[in-house]
Amino acid sequence: MKLGRLNHIGVVVPDMAAALAHWRDVMGATSFEEPHVPQDGLKIMFVNTPTHSGNDGTQMELIQPLNDKTAVSGFLAKNAAGGQHHVCFEVPDIDAAREEFEAMGKRVLGPTRIGAHGTPIFFVHPKDMQGMLTEIMETPKGDH
Ligand code: CO
Repeated sequence: MKLGRLNHIGVVVPDMAAALAHWRDVMGATSFEEPHVPQDGLKIMFVNTPTHSGNDGTQMELIQPLNDKTAVSGFLAKNAAGGQHHVCFEVPDIDAAREEFEAMGKRVLGPTRIGAHGTPIFFVHPKDMQGMLTEIMETPKGDH
């Protein structure tokens, strides 16, 4: 497994407007991004976190389910105030990474698919990942 940078931390929120106000007014965020590719049943916004070097900040992914059938609806039902949901690390080659996780007996959840950043992603089961639902994402072309 070739570990790349931490791309984002996913947070489920019950109310996107309130979440954005929190990140702006309490945390001082000034840069927000819509997803490149919308995800079914989900309202998503990325909060950009700045760094001193200027171009490799990471993101918070705010995820609000719009109905009770999405991948995060059950999480919100159990955690009404929302909360930390997953971490996402980049890899240079998504197919190689998937093969490596599967060879190690890690449970990969569902097919490799196009995530909100427009690059291929998959998720690995938290019980095989030290308790963290882990998203693996191919590094966007043109980055780094
Ligand atoms: Co994510």
